[in-house]
This record gives sequence, structure tokens and C-alpha cells, in this order.
Amino acid sequence: MKQDLIVILDLGSTRNTVIARAIRDLGVYSEIHPHDITVEELKALKNVKGIVLNGGENRVVDGQAVEVRAELYDMGIPMLSVDYPQSKCETKLSDLPDQEALKKFIFDECKAEANWNMKNFIEDQVELIRQQVGDRKVLLALSGGVDSSVVAAMLIKAIGQQLVCVHVNHGLMRKNESESVVKVFRDELHANLIYVDASERFLGKLENVADPEQKRKIIGGEFIRVFEEEARKLEGIDFLGQGTIYPDIIESGTKTAKMVKSHHNVGGLPEDLKFELVEPLKQLFKDEVRACGVELGLPHDMVYRQPFPGPGLGVRCLGAITRDRLEAVRESDAILREEFAKAGLDKKVWQYFTVVPDFKSVGMKNNARVFEYMVIVRAINTIDAMTASVEKVDWDVLEKITERILAEVENVNRVCYDMSPKPPATIEFE
Ligand code: XMP
Repeated sequence: MKQDLIVILDLGSTRNTVIARAIRDLGVYSEIHPHDITVEELKALKNVKGIVLNGGENRVVDGQAVEVRAELYDMGIPMLSVDYPQSKCETKLSDLPDQEALKKFIFDECKAEANWNMKNFIEDQVELIRQQVGDRKVLLALSGGVDSSVVAAMLIKAIGQQLVCVHVNHGLMRKNESESVVKVFRDELHANLIYVDASERFLGKLENVADPEQKRKIIGGEFIRVFEEEARKLEGIDFLGQGTIYPDIIESGTKTAKMVKSHHNVGGLPEDLKFELVEPLKQLFKDEVRACGVELGLPHDMVYRQPFPGPGLGVRCLGAITRDRLEAVRESDAILREEFAKAGLDKKVWQYFTVVPDFKSVGMKNNARVFEYMVIVRAINTIDAMTASVEKVDWDVLEKITERILAEVENVNRVCYDMSPKPPATIEFE
């Protein structure tokens, strides 16, 4: 193993992630593990230089008072208690993140080296993946989103052709998105990639379905069915790769044991498709996942792309999806992205997209009355997507976008800018 490791044992505090970040900020790799880790499990982690115990005031997990196993204190590994003055640890620290005290513990007591960087992280993960998988095969649903793309690149580096990627095009992808997944992964990274064009199947299932929740259910359910069908055609697959990242497995930052169990539920695949999980990013925060993607050589656009909902353009083609409106969403979204990039807004604005409602308005084209759709442009900023404010886009940029959408997108005669913050509006319309 390349990296020294400081293990944080989760005794119920909501501040474990803050401590993990503070330690990583000092250049030392840190992982959070459940409070009931055994001596053997701890030894298997390799290069553990120190242990931080943190449970907040009560040391409670799942409603039960908790302690770490007594044997852990006899391992000769320096321990720091962040929370608990009756603790058996030598060192106690109550006002984290106190960089100086943390530094003293990590570098003086634990004698850890500041060797946490993406290059070393990748080398370590590659070794771990090879140990776990051996000469067997891993299946991965590659959506083209940041997390699945980075996990694919990592697995390709570790096991090459033993990885089978399945990309399902549900027909609700953005312009050229599926093509770019195929280009990057099949042509450039030489991945073993199965491309499934299921557009017609999805659009068929969604015909005349106007209810937003129903649409989401159909898209999610159908996705699992298509993936399952592909998985059943393949033989000798024992593992499922997943782009699980740290924020996915925490809800409150506590109860690690419970979280780990629930995320083993493999996104609804049937019981008889039994896979062991490979989750090399599960200890990374989002910004670290992006840095990992860059280090693995993925294109900047893929790694720094804005969030995109699982149901894709399906929730931006409002009401019952029709092909003409879906095309209008896709084309107008491509224009918006192009113009935002030209204006440098792609690096500044958190999320921006277009929406096409399912009603028409009167307009004039070539001196004749037309009755056509409208495109709504939305651009918002947020920290955590729970609340959002509207980006004050420069008027000239909005004019250029409007001009291009009206000239280049069929069946559209009107462009609006959504001025609504969240709340009361949500970021997406459905
Ligand atoms: P809302 O509309 O709830 O969106 O304010 C908050 C953020 O979540 C994204 N979003 C989704 N992401 N699957 C996803 O992976 C979904 O079904 C979904 N719905 C909304 C949305 O784009 C925004 O960033």
C-alpha cells in the first residue's frame, strides 16, 4: 500500500466527515469505519497509523450506546478521542477541526506521512481491486455520469478486459451523450463495452404517460429490466462495479453500519442475480472523485459535468413525452450548453438546462400565424441542491441563446427565463 491511513471509528457523531476532510487536508488518507470493526478487519486495512474515536456526546449508533472493541486498545496503534473524556486514549481533542492539535497527533504520535494524493490512491485501489477480483469478471452499468465514468476508468486500469460495461441509452440522454460514452470508453480506453439502444422501448413505455411520478417509475424500472436482461446474457460474472461515493452512503454522517447494509441492495436487481460489489470510490467525496477522474485521464467535460437527473430529459419534456418536444428539449439544451461555455458560465453556474412544456402558444413566422411550443431556460446556483438561487445571466447572453433557439430548434416560437428560486420552485420541473 502506498498510503498511510488514519481510521476514524464512527461512534455516532455527525462530524466524522469533517474530521476525515481535515485529516485529508493535511495530506494523510483517512477512512471512516463502523465502531464494531474487529482487530482482524483493522489489520487487513494495511498501513493504519492511527485511530480517531468520535461519537459526539452520546456515543450512540442506531439508538444504542456503543463502544469500540476493547482489544483495539492493545494493538499499539495511537488513538485519539475527539469526544470522550473517560476514554482510555492517551490523547483527547475536543475542539476539532483544530489543525495544530490534529497535526501533532498525526505526524508526531502516529508518525504518518503526508502521502495522500490521487496517484497513490489510484495505485492502492488498483491493487485492492486486483486482489478482490482475481481473474474473474465485473459488470458495470455505465451511464456516463461522473461517478460511473470514474469507476469504469479505475476498473479498466485495474482489470482491463475483465470489466464488462453496459451503457443503456434510454433515449432521454442529452445530445451526443451516448456517442461520447462510446467514443471515450470503447474507442479511447478500449473498454469491453456493450451499448444498448433501448430508446424505442423506453419511449414506447412512456407513451401517453403524463404523471411525473409515473414517468420516473417507468424510467427507473425499465432501466433495471434492460440491465438485468443484459446481465443474464453474460456468463461467468461474479462482481458488480458501483460508482458509490461517500455521500451516497451517509444520510446523517452516522450509523455507518446501517448505511453499509442498505447500499448493498444493488439498485433493485433481482435476488437470483447475486453479485459481490466492487466500489473503489466509496470513501471519496465528490470533488475527490473528479480529481481521481482527471488523474485517470478522463476528459475534463466528462469529469466536471453538471448534475443530470437519472430520468434524463424525460423530466424536462413536461407531461406526456412526444418525440417533437423531446427533440426540442435536446436541441435547445445543446445550444444553451454551447453558449454558456462560450460565455464562461459553464464553470460558474451549478446547473443549467432547458424545459419544454406540453402546451403551445401563438406566434408569427414568415408573416404567417404559427402555434408552437416554448422553451424555458433555467440556470441556478446552490451548495447542496436543497435551496437554490437563480443566476443573473447577462442580458446579451440570454438574447444570443434566445436568437439561436428560435432560429435552430423546430416547433418553437417562444423562449422564457425561469426566475424562480428553490423554494418554492424545485430545480427540475417534474
Ligand atoms: P429538485 O428538482 O428536487 O432537484 O430541486 C435537486 C437536484 O437533484 C437532481 N435530480 C435528480 N437526480 N435522479 C437524479 O439522479 C432524479 O430522479 C433526480 N431528480 C432531480 C436535479 O437535477 C437537481 O440537481
